[in-house]
Amino acid sequence: MIGYVFNTKAPMASYYFLLLVLVGATTASGAELCADFYSCTCPNLLPIVKKGVAKAIQKEPRMGASLLRLHFHDCFVNGCDASILLDDTSNFIGEQTAAANNQSARGFNVINDIKASVEKECPRVVSCADILALSARDSVVYLGGPSWEVGLGRRDSTTASRSDANNSIPGPFLSLTALINNFANQGLSVTDLVALSGAHTIGLAECKNFRAHIYNDSNVDPSYRKFLQSKCPRSGNDKTLEPLDHQTPIHFDNLYFQNLVSKKALLHSDQELFNGSSTDNLVRKYATNAAAFFEDFAKGMLKMSNIKPLTGSQGQIRINCGKVN
Ligand code: HEM
Ligand SMILES: *[C@@H]1O[C@H](CO)[C@@H](O)[C@H](O)[C@H]1NC(C)=O
Ligand SMILES: *[C@@H]1O[C@H](CO)[C@@H](O)[C@H](O)[C@H]1NC(C)=O
Ligand SMILES: *[C@@H]1O[C@H](CO)[C@@H](O)[C@H](O)[C@H]1NC(C)=O
Ligand SMILES: *[C@@H]1O[C@H](CO)[C@@H](O)[C@H](O)[C@H]1NC(C)=O
Repeated sequence: MIGYVFNTKAPMASYYFLLLVLVGATTASGAELCADFYSCTCPNLLPIVKKGVAKAIQKEPRMGASLLRLHFHDCFVNGCDASILLDDTSNFIGEQTAAANNQSARGFNVINDIKASVEKECPRVVSCADILALSARDSVVYLGGPSWEVGLGRRDSTTASRSDANNSIPGPFLSLTALINNFANQGLSVTDLVALSGAHTIGLAECKNFRAHIYNDSNVDPSYRKFLQSKCPRSGNDKTLEPLDHQTPIHFDNLYFQNLVSKKALLHSDQELFNGSSTDNLVRKYATNAAAFFEDFAKGMLKMSNIKPLTGSQGQIRINCGKVN
């Protein structure tokens, strides 16, 4: 059983709720992740990761978003097993050059640096997959979002799959139906889809990923469309970056959902969540109730970070996250 702590960051006071989440902790194989997995073998793990994440975000505020996305892109490809962290070599092609990751996934050096600090203190016991899951949580907390208790005990894969990454990670041109199916394939609900998409309250996206939305979709606010078209022409500037939440891109809040209600989503896939369908009500709820968003986001993260972990004697504890031992 795994609990999570949820912090609304309300201006007058902080409210802490300890909720017991009964679902999501048990894995397909029956093995369970456990929050105190390293309490004897690496008691300082949590502070080491937290410090490493804080240092990286202080150096570059976007890094919190990048680490959160890295964990998502790990979990959606055959489970949270650090497969995304394996570097390509002359005889191995991994996930880093898959369509959604190529020249876009980032934060590998931050994870490698944190792993090196962890190895110094507790050699060969902590997995890269666990460090990535903790880093995603710590990033969200650092940027003002909710907290949750991360179950630990994941092990690292000895392989990766570019084709599985191409097929499993959702792209920005998908319809609502396709997004719902994509998440269902991972055991995630429609509520998880909408809440977890709220991760786009932080971070940036490239012009090539939102061009079709701002030139071809009917559901874009006119002044926002005009602004974006000035940054992202019909051709060229493919790599120009714009914030996914144009209001507060380095603060984890619910303004992403307010943007959707005002037709100011950056990605087609984001605006799909609010375009006259069954998910509109949930978007409206999160837009007006940050606490409800934080609670569902934390629950969704707990489910996502429990997708098919390797446990027990499966896989390995990589010494260097970029390569198999
Ligand atoms: C619902 C389906 C989703 C789609 C189609 C999608 C698509 C995208 C795209 C296209 C980008 C911009 C990449 C670039 O241009 O380099 C992006 C960025 C991002 N995504 Fe998603 N995403 C989805 C769900 C999620 C989820 C579930 C999370 C985490 C829980 C997440 C976290 C992020 C973050 C934080 C960024 C910004 C990364 C940065 O600035 O480095 N996304 N996403
Ligand atoms: C990755 O992106 C680079 C730079 O845009 C490009 O040259 C390369 O062909 C891409 N690789 C794949 C596998 O798409
Ligand atoms: C995955 O997508 C990349 C980039 O679009 C492409 O170059 C590659 O051929 C695809 N690889 C596989 C194995 O599907
Ligand atoms: C917009 O749609 C037209 C017609 O389907 C297509 O030819 C064009 O490539 C699209 N534009 C963008 C930027 O995707
Ligand atoms: C959104 O809804 C409108 C009105 O129903 C529809 O015309 C449109 O195709 C939908 N999707 C987009 C991306 O505009």
